[in-house]
Amino acid sequence: MDNLNPLNFPADLLACLRLARAAAALTGAGVSAESGVPTFRDAQTGLWARYRPEDLASPQAFAENPVQVWEWYRWRRGLVSGALPNPAHYALADLEKRIPRFTLITQNVDGLHHTAGSRQVIELHGNIWRNKCSRDGAQVEVVSSNQENPPLCPRCSGLVRPDVVWFGEQLPAEALEAAWDAAQHCAVFLSIGTSGLVQPAASLPLIAVQSGATLIEINPDETPLTPHASYSLRGPAGLILPELLQAVWG
Ligand code: OAD
Repeated sequence: MDNLNPLNFPADLLACLRLARAAAALTGAGVSAESGVPTFRDAQTGLWARYRPEDLASPQAFAENPVQVWEWYRWRRGLVSGALPNPAHYALADLEKRIPRFTLITQNVDGLHHTAGSRQVIELHGNIWRNKCSRDGAQVEVVSSNQENPPLCPRCSGLVRPDVVWFGEQLPAEALEAAWDAAQHCAVFLSIGTSGLVQPAASLPLIAVQSGATLIEINPDETPLTPHASYSLRGPAGLILPELLQAVWG
């Protein structure tokens, strides 16, 4: 076995990455799992295991009970604030430097790709650290609040909410357009740590395949995207991605 290739990746997979002038990656909660941020759909530990998403992450939930929704987001911010990027995040930041046109598209709201040094990140589902006014959507920088009172917009006194995409909401149009464009114009598309169940993000790998890209999936489990992947690398992203980069670029 090649020393630089201990996981024995196929030679044509390595060549396809080495030769790619344009690549895109879609990441999901699995990429942050090794940083201690729970995924959404794990039956025991997933974020949605204890709650119904629409009870906490929807415009209706916020209209009915903003205090409870803020409680949930304060708890999640607490989880994320203690988390550090893991080797998968760092490998993706590295990939940005190695492939001339590389687009990182994430469904994660934790900001760990930025912390790891990725500069171009399309955040399809927003960012848990940002706030916006629930009336006009304008970003709100400084908010004061306490446990009982959700924060208010300093301009219009409307309720402030986290700047994330909730169930039933549209994705930010510009971000989605840029992600679509990257999927249509890449030679290699990596789908990493996502269950491939939530639209429209789950369509991006399929758009890439339809446009002629090679799809590489990195996930310990099979997903609905697996049948479309040319390579399915089974295992944790924090182990596989650094090994893959090492095998391609040494
Ligand atoms: P999910 O929780 O649906 O899926 C996480 C995926 O990560 C699963 O396929 C796991 O097998 C895989 N996984 C777990 N540990 C891993 C590891 N160490 N390395 C690689 N993969 C691993 O999370 P997402 O696909 O991100 O949306 O979910 C998509 C969206 O659904 C989220 O952005 C969120 C949620 O509802 C909103 O909140 C709008």
